[in-house]
Amino acid sequence: MILVTGATGSVGSALLRELRLAGAAPVRGLTRDAGRASFPEGVEAVAGDLARADSLQAALEGARSLFLLSGMGAEAEVLASARRAGVEHVVLVSSITVQTHPHLAAAGANRAVERLLKDSGMAWTILRPTQFASNALWWARSIRGQGVVRAPYADIGLPAIHPADIAAVARAALTEPGHRGQTYALTGPECVTVRRQVSAIAAAAGREVAFTEISRDEAHRQMASFMGDETADAVLDLMGGDVNDELLKVRDTVARLTGAPARSFRQWAAENGAAFR
Ligand SMILES: NC(=O)c1ccc[n+]([C@@H]2O[C@H](COP(=O)([O-])OP(=O)(O)OC[C@H]3O[C@@H](n4cnc5c(N)ncnc54)[C@H](OP(=O)(O)O)[C@@H]3O)[C@@H](O)[C@H]2O)c1
Repeated sequence: MILVTGATGSVGSALLRELRLAGAAPVRGLTRDAGRASFPEGVEAVAGDLARADSLQAALEGARSLFLLSGMGAEAEVLASARRAGVEHVVLVSSITVQTHPHLAAAGANRAVERLLKDSGMAWTILRPTQFASNALWWARSIRGQGVVRAPYADIGLPAIHPADIAAVARAALTEPGHRGQTYALTGPECVTVRRQVSAIAAAAGREVAFTEISRDEAHRQMASFMGDETADAVLDLMGGDVNDELLKVRDTVARLTGAPARSFRQWAAENGAAFR
């Protein structure tokens, strides 16, 4: 049995499809609201909250592999419960910031979870993806409402990754030999500026989208109101304020591990045009 956490999210939902297509072991998807989940046929929906390890007993029962998102709150207890329940291998979604921006608080938190997993006694595979293409959904409301994107760092291009490619690597790690004890930095196939992302979304949505570049200060004011000062600063650094060669580097990991080229931002936009209409 493979337990997939974040099963309603962008990576987890793609992973459920990948695992069903591969005809892998039985698959169970975790969500906090099993009544609302609509999983592919054959996937068992199970309720549980990663911030409360005591809620995961049913989810972990019989699980031998675990796909785990980092940053949900109670990783030490979740990993201890997984070990006690008989999980043998954990594939963890961490973040590339562990190696590109180790000084940031979020990177330190991910590094700590990686360490907990390595010390857990279970086999491990660590995925360190870069910025997700699906982060562009942040713009969906203003595109739908006003046909506009206002964002900083218009001409900085990062190698954003399609969430389905993270899922494809996770599927390989969960079902094929050779991935235990490995840490994989994952990126998309090319660097794409914010300006080009907006054009790709406009083309996919079949509508005009105006783009206005705003200053870091203006973006910070907007973001800090709902994520706080420190997180807003960190996110803005990663968007363009403090990028470095390691963050800008395009890696071939997805193609190497899955046998298929990494999907482009344009492809992600084409698949998600409806969200911006
Ligand atoms: N966005 C990026 O650029 C980026 C970059 C590197 C790493 N990451 C990592 O990627 C992960 C996010 O993946 P994603 O984009 O696929 O997710 P997503 O689409 O944002 O969806 C969030 C998922 O997490 C689940 N979740 C949230 N809180 C939970 C809790 N307390 N207990 C159980 N499940 C919970 C939600 O499930 P329910 O609502 O159904 O319970 C949902 O499936 C995070 O670990 C993040 O740190 C993101």
